[in-house]
Amino acid sequence: MIILLITAMFAQGSSLRLIDIEVNSVVQKGDPVWLNCTFDQESEDLYSVKWYKNSVEIYRYLPKEHPQAQSYEQPGVYIDMDRSSVGHVYLQKTDLESEGIYRCEVSAEAPSFQTERGEKELRIYVLPRETPTVTGTHGHYSVGDLVNVTCSAKPSKPAADLQWYINDKKAPVHFEWPLSPLKEGRLLSSRLGLRFVVEHAHLWHGTLNLRCSSVIAQEYSRSVEELYIKDMPKSSELRAAKDGPRINGQKSTYRLGESVVANCTSPKVKEAPKLRWFLNENEVSPEYVTRYPLVKHPGSLESALLGIHFNVREHHFRNGEMRLNCTAIFKKTVDTSHVETVIGASQQSSGLQVSAKGGGGSGSTCSSGKSLELLFTILLSVWFIYC
Ligand SMILES: *[C@@H]1O[C@H](CO)[C@@H](O)[C@H](O)[C@H]1NC(C)=O
Ligand SMILES: *[C@@H]1O[C@H](CO)[C@@H](O)[C@H](O)[C@H]1NC(C)=O
Ligand SMILES: *[C@@H]1O[C@H](CO)[C@@H](O)[C@H](O)[C@H]1NC(C)=O
Ligand SMILES: *[C@@H]1O[C@H](CO)[C@@H](O)[C@H](O)[C@H]1NC(C)=O
Repeated sequence: MIILLITAMFAQGSSLRLIDIEVNSVVQKGDPVWLNCTFDQESEDLYSVKWYKNSVEIYRYLPKEHPQAQSYEQPGVYIDMDRSSVGHVYLQKTDLESEGIYRCEVSAEAPSFQTERGEKELRIYVLPRETPTVTGTHGHYSVGDLVNVTCSAKPSKPAADLQWYINDKKAPVHFEWPLSPLKEGRLLSSRLGLRFVVEHAHLWHGTLNLRCSSVIAQEYSRSVEELYIKDMPKSSELRAAKDGPRINGQKSTYRLGESVVANCTSPKVKEAPKLRWFLNENEVSPEYVTRYPLVKHPGSLESALLGIHFNVREHHFRNGEMRLNCTAIFKKTVDTSHVETVIGASQQSSGLQVSAKGGGGSGSTCSSGKSLELLFTILLSVWFIYC
């Protein structure tokens, strides 16, 4: 899916046309990346193709100059000049400094000097080297015992989102114990505690399954559509961002006391963005918002839908205007993994069993020779799935 912001300066009667900017939005640290800019020059002569990172020029190609291609040094920009040409620039590697907004600018020759530009944001992620770990587990638990465990993710960027599940159900919030992440340079190690007293109700067919799941999702873009309502007359106006979410259901004018009923729909993408409504800079309170399930589309695409419903009041206006905006926050899940602990009631076996499955996880097996009347076995299995 390509999220593209194209701002075009149109010159009358000209024909240079920017078709696409193709840059992976989310790239793993170290990987190479192509910056591709495709355009149609039709009858125009090409004057230049220039690339900028955060508005600073990094590469230019002028067909009539010698040399035709030139690059400019920038932290995090490793251009392979042999593989780069007119509209395609190859960054042979990336690091955390490579993050930024890359803009392509294509200009036609005189007399039109028509210029078309488009940009894309590149975000770099760093995966953890290992699966999360769980500390604080005991060799065995009995009903009435306190489970007091911590799930710790290895350093990553962005930080992992951790969640605890008890018997495949999301653990109640009051069982979870938030711990601040540990910093390691620009990487973060997320941590989440889980504390509860084992009850019979927690045992599912005599077992208690604890799972800590870790999701690393890189946010890579935000886009907004704004509904702008002016006081006199209360006319509404939409200010759209290209390829952003869409607001629909709004009226052309609003009177005080009238309802604003609208939906915000995201574009169709592989991973639907999170939508949020803002009213004059503040997030709209949940009672005005209607959450709908994700809408599935062919080609494993999906879109998000978020409704809003409230009555227009005087206090909604600031200096005679009201701004209602729907923001879409796009994220790409780059890693999911989990650690699972199954505590089972057993009459025969004793002790702690640890086993690992999948890449990246480290496993070991050991047993404590104790035997009790009611024994619980802990089976720790580690899964690691890269997406
Ligand atoms: C960019 O262009 C290069 C060279 O033409 C091509 O090999 C690569 O697949 C393209 N990448 C993307 C993301 O479009
Ligand atoms: C739970 O464990 C943490 C350390 O892992 C400890 O600091 C805390 O005191 C424990 N809480 C209880 C109620 O035992
Ligand atoms: C918003 O979407 C829901 C679900 O599709 C639909 O029932 C409702 O009528 C829509 N509202 C508006 C104002 O378009
Ligand atoms: C939308 O609202 C948020 C929150 O106030 C704000 O940060 C953002 O700039 C707004 N977007 C636009 C385009 O006004």
